[in-house]
Amino acid sequence: MRQDLLKKFLSDKQCVAVVCNQWGDTGKGKLVDLLSTWADIIIRGTGGANAGHTIVVKDQKHIFHLLPSGILHDIDGKINIIGRGVAFDPQAVIDELDILQGAGLSVKHLKISHQAPLMLPFHILIDRMGDKVQKIGTTGRGIGPLYTDYTARHSLFLNDIFNPEIFREKLTKYLEGKKNILAALDKEAAKEVLAHPHLGGGIYFHPEDILDIEAIVKKYTGDFATRLKPYIIDLENFVQTALQAKKNILLEGAQGTLLSIDFGTTKFQTSSDCTIDGLARGAGLREGDVEHVFGIAKAFYMTRVGNGPFPTEFGGKPSEEYCAKGITKDQEKTEHTSRVVEYLAGDDQLNLGIAVRLLGDEYGATTGRTRRNGWLDLVALKYAMQYNGPSLTLTKVDVLDTFVKIKLAVAYKYAGPDIFYAGQELKAGQQIDFFPRFSEILYNCEPVYQEFDGWQTAISGIEDYEALPQAIKTIVDFVEQYTGGKIEVISVGPDREQTIFKFYRA
Ligand code: GDP
Ligand code: IMO
Ligand code: MG
Repeated sequence: MRQDLLKKFLSDKQCVAVVCNQWGDTGKGKLVDLLSTWADIIIRGTGGANAGHTIVVKDQKHIFHLLPSGILHDIDGKINIIGRGVAFDPQAVIDELDILQGAGLSVKHLKISHQAPLMLPFHILIDRMGDKVQKIGTTGRGIGPLYTDYTARHSLFLNDIFNPEIFREKLTKYLEGKKNILAALDKEAAKEVLAHPHLGGGIYFHPEDILDIEAIVKKYTGDFATRLKPYIIDLENFVQTALQAKKNILLEGAQGTLLSIDFGTTKFQTSSDCTIDGLARGAGLREGDVEHVFGIAKAFYMTRVGNGPFPTEFGGKPSEEYCAKGITKDQEKTEHTSRVVEYLAGDDQLNLGIAVRLLGDEYGATTGRTRRNGWLDLVALKYAMQYNGPSLTLTKVDVLDTFVKIKLAVAYKYAGPDIFYAGQELKAGQQIDFFPRFSEILYNCEPVYQEFDGWQTAISGIEDYEALPQAIKTIVDFVEQYTGGKIEVISVGPDREQTIFKFYRA
């Protein structure tokens, strides 16, 4: 019945996409896996190994960083593609291939764009060392430095590793250009970063130059090239042919719109455009080719990993500082699990955040970091939906099953110094109903809440929209009214099956 609703909804569509309307980790992996039953081709178009997309099938958890989340359907002949916009990290992809192949799963139909920008040890090194100063709280996967090189026209491309002489020549010139940056690094600290298993456990370290050109050439044009060559395609040609052949195409976004380089909260962003525009381009298509965009939001709370403004955060700035300390899931579980009920009933907002983190299992899929969390911010959601369109998927609704009250942010009160922003003078105490993406302003925005009754019953087993508690439907109607969007999918658990569709509600 439920699958029928989805099938019917998609029956007149050829190209659909999944993107996130928040700060990432909203369940893109789950939805992509589900929609992969419909798709013939699944394409990742943005981000890199900073992403961590989780799929749960029959209690078994799979986390993908670079492989598209449709890869578990490879066995059914579905084609999964890593697109041209992806920051391509060969080691990360090979590690994922090893895991899948080790588990006896097929990756026969994987394809990779020849012109994805190529991740080099330099990028990861600079990301990890640079963020000690910048304090963005990056994932340390080299993303910022690689996209910087791409726009500066310095980057290499995946295709280069299959031509050893060209690769050596380009890499030598490239590192020549980075000589001053490398010379300024603390050698011991660099050596330590390069000892990371993801960086070959130290094979790229050179005692004088920091990076060993020959070691990089050997690995990239050797093992990496041999392993990846069978998968390389000309993406644009491939998708054009697929469109003509009326194949169903599914685009998988990464990160989230509030992290987008073009629309995210300034400085505390990633380096690609996480909206449908960036995704379509990175997948070798035009935005106009995409007929339906599933925009996801966690509800009725939200999360953020790394630093940056988060107006509705449980526990505010102290929570941001607490989460930056590197506390692990195991530590929180041991120290706080027995006190969740007490935290939910109490007034301490930092503890409320810890309780929601434990209830929602909000620990980074890529870095294991504690995800900061807070109430759903409708001002931010409406802002993000401007870029991705009106279709909304709400995920993790089950996490707040025990809550007596639910609060949604419907405006902000500006609480900072007088400042000029976007054509107006903002003054302390002023209420604003727009999302200022400049972090120095957003840090000074206090949420204005509207309160709703909770539903206080377990919903993970519910299959139809009509069977959901009235308290949820009331909030759903309010969110639709506020944002002008249409809530079409409601996720009530991590499993594929725990999904409610309401495409054809009268
Ligand atoms: P992505 O990066 O957007 O793919 O999201 P992540 O995989 O990083 O984080 C989402 C987490 O929530 C994963 O652990 C999912 O298994 C889980 N999840 C997805 N949807 C739901 C849901 O509706 N309820 C619950 N409880 N968990 C969910
Ligand atoms: P998925 O696809 C959540 C965040 C980092 C940091 C900022 C910049 O799983 O939703 P970067 O390494 O990209 O330079 O880090 O962006 N970030 C994510 N947060 N989910 C992600 O991906 C993220 N990818 C990057 O935590 O704040
Ligand atoms: Mg994630």
